[in-house]
Amino acid sequence: MLDSYAVIGNPISHSKSPLIHKTFAQQTNQAMQYAALLAPLDGFQATVESFRQQGGKGMNVTVPFKLEAYRLATRLTERATIAQAVNTLKFEYDEILGDNTDGAGLVRDIENNLGIPIAEKRILLLGAGGAARGVILPLLQQKPSLLAIANRTRGTAEALQDQFSAYGNIVMHIFMPSNAHFDIIINATSASLHDALPEIPAGVFAQATLAYDMMYRQESTRFLKFAQQNGTRQIADGIGMLVEQAAESFFLWRGIRPQTKPVIAMLKSQI
Ligand code: ATR
Repeated sequence: MLDSYAVIGNPISHSKSPLIHKTFAQQTNQAMQYAALLAPLDGFQATVESFRQQGGKGMNVTVPFKLEAYRLATRLTERATIAQAVNTLKFEYDEILGDNTDGAGLVRDIENNLGIPIAEKRILLLGAGGAARGVILPLLQQKPSLLAIANRTRGTAEALQDQFSAYGNIVMHIFMPSNAHFDIIINATSASLHDALPEIPAGVFAQATLAYDMMYRQESTRFLKFAQQNGTRQIADGIGMLVEQAAESFFLWRGIRPQTKPVIAMLKSQI
């Protein structure tokens, strides 16, 4: 029987994960299968358990179940513990290992694919929800000179600053001066889901090397258009991060790193 993996979410039909992992498996000659599983909103745990009972080896977890997956895991990696969210499960004997590969995916995309080292850079992270929380530690581990978090609501950004300040130089902004200087500006808000633009002064983009939107859509997001119009040199959407976080999960399960660049190119040509 082939080793069996799946992505679980609700909704799930739009997920690119089956295509990404099947391509990785072909590329690396791994005998495995990978499916998309729709779990009822109140049936995450039951769906995971049933998949596990049938011999499933691991899962990717997507919206809205990352917190439930965090609670279900019997052992957590450090990056999942700190993110308080799990996007990858690995089943071994009685254990459910929970990991979070989102932040590693973002870091790899920025550094390896876009060619921009994070060390010594001034980074602005927009948003303080789950998506932001998942990438803070991996960003800090690259030793940026500064990580600024800006959020619409003060309390959530302050809580993140308190939690993460032991790991690196973090500051929090609510109102940002228009001449503030950042090298890399990352949109981790959910604004792009609604084609909205998080509030940020246009002047902040002029000196930036990279504007990165963790979301992707067929057309460029408003955030990326705004960044480009206001002078940011390079823009990138979240497709690279999507493929890189998948590669990191694949590595956790199979011990092999697939090549990501051809898969990113394939997805970009399809979207
Ligand atoms: P996720 O887990 O996907 O990050 P979330 O926890 O709901 O989702 O967080 C969404 C983030 O996007 C929050 O930081 C939210 O800001 P608030 O804390 O002020 O709610 C931010 N966000 C969503 N829509 C936004 C908008 N139109 N402009 C600015 N920030 C927005």
